[in-house]
Amino acid sequence: MDKIIIEGGRPIGGAVKISGAKNAALPIFAATILGDGVSRLANVPDLRDTRTIAKLIEELGAKVARDHGDEYTVDSSTITNYEAPYELVKTMRASCLALGPLVARLGRAKVSLPGGCAIGERPIDQHLKGLSALGADIELAHGYVDVKAPPKGLTGAHITMDMITVTGVMNIMMAATLAKGRTVIENAAREPEVLALGEYLIKMGANIEGAGTATITIEGVASLRSADIVIIPDRIEAATFMAAAAITGGSVTVTDMDAAMVGAVIDKLADCGCKVETLGADISVQAPEKLRSANISTAPYPGFPTDMQAQMMALMTIANGTSVIKETIFENRFMHVAELRRMGADISLGGNSATVLGVSHLSGAEVMATDLRASASLVLAGLAAEGETVISRVYHLDRGYEHLEEKFSRLGANIRRVKGEGG
Ligand code: EPU
Repeated sequence: MDKIIIEGGRPIGGAVKISGAKNAALPIFAATILGDGVSRLANVPDLRDTRTIAKLIEELGAKVARDHGDEYTVDSSTITNYEAPYELVKTMRASCLALGPLVARLGRAKVSLPGGCAIGERPIDQHLKGLSALGADIELAHGYVDVKAPPKGLTGAHITMDMITVTGVMNIMMAATLAKGRTVIENAAREPEVLALGEYLIKMGANIEGAGTATITIEGVASLRSADIVIIPDRIEAATFMAAAAITGGSVTVTDMDAAMVGAVIDKLADCGCKVETLGADISVQAPEKLRSANISTAPYPGFPTDMQAQMMALMTIANGTSVIKETIFENRFMHVAELRRMGADISLGGNSATVLGVSHLSGAEVMATDLRASASLVLAGLAAEGETVISRVYHLDRGYEHLEEKFSRLGANIRRVKGEGG
């Protein structure tokens, strides 16, 4: 298995171009199932997860080609298979995004039930509640969820989500595009990726209002055509580089990023003493002499993203003072704590809160993580730590950060990947 080795303790500086968003690309790949022709997706990040969803769409019968670099062509006219096998779903929970479009297009979707994962149980009851409200019959058997539309197809419904769920709303939205009549989704997730999916579905001919707000209205149409799209930038990647500038005492400009999408992170970095400036699609972050502590509570968008909680905790480990970090979205998203402690951090855990007492410095160590964002937090800690940090299980990072070592190297970090045996 590959490892990443970081020689830390030096400020990073310069400009970094942000890649397309993983969490926008995945649902948009799933949405291509709804069209009956050729879609072109551009600015698709080259990640393990995007390759997995491309493979899934192929399994369903589509012809998928990675034309050059970040561009994919998906011909979904040949989709006939409604089954997403365990082999693919087990490696990526977002495979359940195929449920909505498959049941809408083929009248049936059989998708392996995603199990729990390193950050929590992550049930999909809200996805199923929505599909059932649209008239689908749902059966759970042999580890699969089998969703069948009635013979006359799905019908619009009024659905109030019990909780904010990003992929849950996406699934229902995609299913409702081809349902008869009107669907209203209340208490919908407002993440920019939901808006991006809504805009793509509209390009395909869907009639949707309010994507990106708490109430989404969809008037079903008879069919959708394929469409082209450029994937929006990855706000979590951008925020991770901004946090890296802060933790290393450096200065970084992220380019091709919409500052509005990272507003909560910008505010928090400013609370910590960073100077943050926005000019067009560029955001510059300059670290202070010494970081100040700050309290953080994760929340659905536009609140502070859970996907940045681990990285901000790394920052707080060397800030002046005590920070309380509360995780309200996932019940088990503190796997990075034990590893950060091995690097010298002073963190105590109680329920869904972590109390971080800032220390003077971190020291390099051998660490590993069990999920994507926890791994990113270890990279940040490693960049700031004195001495060498060796991060194993790099495949977690490869799920969500495109060219991570190259991008950090160009910013002056001493970081390299060592190819390992196996895995
Ligand atoms: N939940 C339920 N039932 C459901 C759906 C969700 O109880 O039917 C719970 C979850 O267990 C969780 C909360 O609701 O406690 C919110 O989960 P949500 O459904 O919003 O998460 P998701 O859609 O599975 C997406 C991102 C995650 C990101 C979360 C929250 C994608 C592919 N994934 O997951 O991204 O953390 O929203 O913003 O969009 C990552 O990129 O590292 C990542 C984990």
